Amino acid sequence: MVVKVYKTAEEIGKAAAAMYAAQVIKKPDSVLGFATGSTPIPTYKSIIELYNEGVIDFSQVTTFNLDEYSGLDGTHDQSYRYFMMQNLFNHINVRKDAINIINGNSGDDEKACKEYEERINKAGGIDLQILGIGNNGHIAFNEPADYFPNETHTVKLTESTIEANKRFFNSADEVPKYALTMGIGSIMRARSIILIATGSAKAQAIYDSVKGNITPNCPASVLQLHNDVTFLVDEAAAAKL
Ligand code: F6R
Repeated sequence: MVVKVYKTAEEIGKAAAAMYAAQVIKKPDSVLGFATGSTPIPTYKSIIELYNEGVIDFSQVTTFNLDEYSGLDGTHDQSYRYFMMQNLFNHINVRKDAINIINGNSGDDEKACKEYEERINKAGGIDLQILGIGNNGHIAFNEPADYFPNETHTVKLTESTIEANKRFFNSADEVPKYALTMGIGSIMRARSIILIATGSAKAQAIYDSVKGNITPNCPASVLQLHNDVTFLVDEAAAAKL
């Protein structure tokens, strides 16, 4: 595990984007893993800049996203598919049929999860996966639990998550109650992993992930067992290390 500390979110974005560029230069048909949330936005901006400068060609890559809400169509402005199209995919030359995001609106979430895991395996596994981290150490939608879930699966959102997300919807009833997420095994099987974190609210989770015990109470702590993981964090997120 390598931990690099930066001054600003922009510097983290540039560093993470450079790792994506290096990966695609090394292997033009790479399988790239992406995340949603606010932390990766500067990374996606930098990736788009590198693409516009002609540094990265995404024409041969395949992408997989970590998670998606259940019951939202991909055109819904709160769906993770919509987020990815707006913040990255519409601005680079990735083939639309090479974009994989779990289908949360198929009517059969269990089947969608199983198919997604199979699709990752069929693609040969993920070469480079970026992760954000929750204040409680969650990665993707894998919340603190009694065990590490292995494959892509459905999760019931906690009341606090539903409450926190209410502001993005017209009413609380519209907030999805379930989500579909890659499991800890799906993530750990990626060949390289970057975890990015900014701000003091993430400091305890970063400490627990890097220096704490490996425990499903802090899902990101499992990354200590991965042989190619790089944490890119700002000084506030690194404050307790
Ligand atoms: C998003 C995801 C989540 C976020 C995490 C941090 O696809 O998997 O685990 O990475 O909740 O979110 P932000 O970056 O908004 O702090």
